[in-house]
Amino acid sequence: MSSRTPLIAGNWKMHKTGSQAVEAANQLRILVEATRAVEVMIAPTYTALYQVAQTLKGSNIALGAQDLYWEKQGAFTGEISSEMLADAGCSHVIIGHSERRQFFGETDETVNRKIRAALADNLIPVFCIGESETQREAGETFSVLDKQVRDGLKDLGFGDLTGLVVAYEPVWAIGTGKTATREQAQETHRFIRSLLETLFGKPFAGVVRILYGGSVKPDNVRALMEMPDVDGALVGGASLDPETFSKLVFFND
Ligand code: PGA
Repeated sequence: MSSRTPLIAGNWKMHKTGSQAVEAANQLRILVEATRAVEVMIAPTYTALYQVAQTLKGSNIALGAQDLYWEKQGAFTGEISSEMLADAGCSHVIIGHSERRQFFGETDETVNRKIRAALADNLIPVFCIGESETQREAGETFSVLDKQVRDGLKDLGFGDLTGLVVAYEPVWAIGTGKTATREQAQETHRFIRSLLETLFGKPFAGVVRILYGGSVKPDNVRALMEMPDVDGALVGGASLDPETFSKLVFFND
């Protein structure tokens, strides 16, 4: 287990209306009230953010968005800025999720612009990276991650990255029920941490949290969390039900 405070983050994707999100956030708030050793974050859909922020006031659950647009304001129909997210009550924002890369044309370059916009407004980016099944089978995992990290964090320095969270999510494990083994997760997280050390130095690499994502469930979370470079989880499906998600938060009990 790592010495960094674990972060268990729920990505609700395109699920739950405003009232459903408020109900789930309320239940979760009660269920995880007792935890102090683990940080908790949930990322509902945009239309639920403000309401959920009101529900979470005074709780130990942080609020995140699932994406943003890097411009501050202007004629960008359908887009939402980091300032708007902060105003709605967000402290975190997921950036570069593989579903955005796969279905919505997200590239390493747009990821970089989004990370910079988030940091400029003091939002904590949860920067997602991960290889596809074909890339893993072709032995390209490390080169793919190397490029995603270097390009995603391009032109940023150690001083800019305070709070940044990395989420390693092998695309073949997302929503498929196939989890990476804890050895695969550890090997990859170690690779990412040493790359971050090369790029930004040892102090940063020592504190940056690297979450694992991809079919994390109550029955596999503990084994993953026991690995020294796994600092938490980014959870999709299993975050939708507050009871199930709270079991992930209390992985150590
Ligand atoms: P999953 O999703 O837990 O449903 O596999 C993970 C994610 O997309 O962050």
